[in-house]
Amino acid sequence: MELCIGEQIKAQPFWVLVALILGFLLVLNSALASLRWVYVYFVRPAKDLKKYGSWALVTGPTDGIGKSLAFELAGKYLNLVLVGRNLEKLNDVSDAIKARYGGTQIRNVVVDLAGDLSEGIERIGEAIEGLDVGVLVNCAGVSYPYARFFHEVDEEMLKDVIQVNVEAINRVTNAVLPGMLGRKRGAIVNIGSGSVTATPSFPLVSVYAATKAYVHELSRNLHVECKLNGIDVQCQVPLHVATKMSRIEKSSLFTPSPEEYSKASIRWIGYDHTCVPYWPHSIQTTLLRALPQDLVDWFLFRYFLDIRNEGQIQDFLKNSKNKGYIRG
Ligand SMILES: NC(=O)c1ccc[n+]([C@@H]2O[C@H](COP(=O)([O-])OP(=O)(O)OC[C@H]3O[C@@H](n4cnc5c(N)ncnc54)[C@H](OP(=O)(O)O)[C@@H]3O)[C@@H](O)[C@H]2O)c1
Repeated sequence: MELCIGEQIKAQPFWVLVALILGFLLVLNSALASLRWVYVYFVRPAKDLKKYGSWALVTGPTDGIGKSLAFELAGKYLNLVLVGRNLEKLNDVSDAIKARYGGTQIRNVVVDLAGDLSEGIERIGEAIEGLDVGVLVNCAGVSYPYARFFHEVDEEMLKDVIQVNVEAINRVTNAVLPGMLGRKRGAIVNIGSGSVTATPSFPLVSVYAATKAYVHELSRNLHVECKLNGIDVQCQVPLHVATKMSRIEKSSLFTPSPEEYSKASIRWIGYDHTCVPYWPHSIQTTLLRALPQDLVDWFLFRYFLDIRNEGQIQDFLKNSKNKGYIRG
């Protein structure tokens, strides 16, 4: 006599039923995760950033990701406070933004984030006094000119990387956060790095990666601290973007231009505490995490060692030319 499906299931031993239920839950979980992925990357609408306030402050707006993000924020009808170290570059960027988005008000503040931070923060404080700064983007960042072993990083470089990537985020956030807390609204975006979340290590760029680990940890904790006061703190995680820092000139699917990256980035502001805004980076992150981590360590070490060796040769040739040992 043939049994119907329900009876067939009942006839199985208990452990087979448990395995079936677990398998079903796993498939359901993966299906829901995939649906959520499609939704957040392609369907979910961006937040109305003006609800946080009418001004945005951006550090590092004179190049790369920060510059493109400044354009995107102006495109969302936000006025801008641009914090950079070079007045000429700041003027060029603000003129270009005003030419594209006529009504945008812009205040330029010259601060060398690797220099005297107390003076710089005072200037930022004066510039934002009385302004409804609703969005803060901590984007300025530095790395080494090329990869190198930890003991090869000189004191000056070490200081600059730590001051710009860590200390400046603390101080700029401190200057802006009290106003947000008073108004009970705001969004803070700190630009982290895939060197912390996508790969198990970042050898030969270790101090940079360590500063970015600080950015991730700070953001995660501020997210919890500030949430109840209506402030959304987020760490955005780019992988390679074609900028001066990455020294990649040509964009591709997995290495977006800063403009492509920023278009993705702006859609995530105010959502998850940690996010990988550009969808091909999200796929790369998943693949990198799925690989044997020792293998990724080994590959990255070889990859950065090649960059370090090439950089040393270039430095040697430049020094020899400067000293007149070689011509050309
Ligand atoms: N590009 C990537 O592949 C990548 C990947 C992961 C994370 N990130 C992160 O993304 C952020 C932006 O990087 P990016 O690739 O756009 O770099 P970028 O093109 O080199 O731009 C860096 C920005 O920071 C500014 N800056 C550097 N040192 C400064 C200082 N001492 N004082 C004030 N401003 C200073 C630069 O000003 P100047 O114009 O005056 O130089 C520039 O505006 C960084 O935090 C970086 O760590 C980048």
